[in-house]
Amino acid sequence: MDFLELARNRYSERFFDSRPIEQDKLDRILEAGRIVPTACNYQLQKFYLIRSEEGLAKLRTVTHFHCNVPLMILVCYDIREVWTNPSDRYYRNYNSGEQDASIAATTMMYEAEELGIHTIWIRGFDSKTVVDTFGLPDYMVPVMMLGLGYPNERAKANAWHYRRRPIEDFVHEL
Ligand SMILES: Cc1cc2nc3c(=O)[nH]c(=O)nc-3n(C[C@H](O)[C@H](O)[C@H](O)COP(=O)(O)O)c2cc1C
Repeated sequence: MDFLELARNRYSERFFDSRPIEQDKLDRILEAGRIVPTACNYQLQKFYLIRSEEGLAKLRTVTHFHCNVPLMILVCYDIREVWTNPSDRYYRNYNSGEQDASIAATTMMYEAEELGIHTIWIRGFDSKTVVDTFGLPDYMVPVMMLGLGYPNERAKANAWHYRRRPIEDFVHEL
C-alpha cells in the first residue's frame, strides 16, 4: 500500500478488542518514534507504555476517551532542555516540545496503521492529573496519548472522519 492510501485508510478507532499487541510490532512502532526529526536533534520525546492491569486501571481514571485500549502510549517531552526560540517576537516563549512529540506520535501512528493496528489520538485529559496519577517527574510534559489495539466487531470510522475541507481551504500562495 502506498503512503497516501495508508493515510486515507487511517481513522480514529474507538472500538478495540482486548488482544494485546505483539512485542515485535510494538518494537517497530517505538522505533518509528525514535528516529524522527526533532529541533536541534535534542530528542527529548518520551514514550510511557500503559498496558499493565494497574496502569490501565489508572488510565481509566484520567480520561473518558480510553476506549478500553490494551495499550496506551503516553507521549511526553522533557521541558528541562527543550529547544526554545527566545528571539521569536511573534510567539513568545516558544518551545519545540509539542512539535517534537507530535512528530514522534504521528510517525508511530502511521507505523501502527501499516502493521494493521488501529489507533486513537487522545488529548482529552488534564495534564496535572496525568502527571500526578502516574507519578511522573514535574519536568515531564504530557502532550498526547496514542491508544493502540486491534479493532473489535463494532469498529468503524465515525462521521467526522469523512468530513474534510477541500484543499483550497488549506493551500495558499504567498
Ligand atoms: C490533537 C488531537 C486531539 C484529539 N483528542 C481526541 C480525544 O481526546 N478524544 C477522541 O475521541 N478523539 C480525539 N482526537 C481524534 C479526532 O477527533 C479525530 O482525529 C478527528 O475527528 C478526525 O477523525 P479521524 O481521525 O477518524 O479521521 C484528537 C485528534 C487530535 C489530532
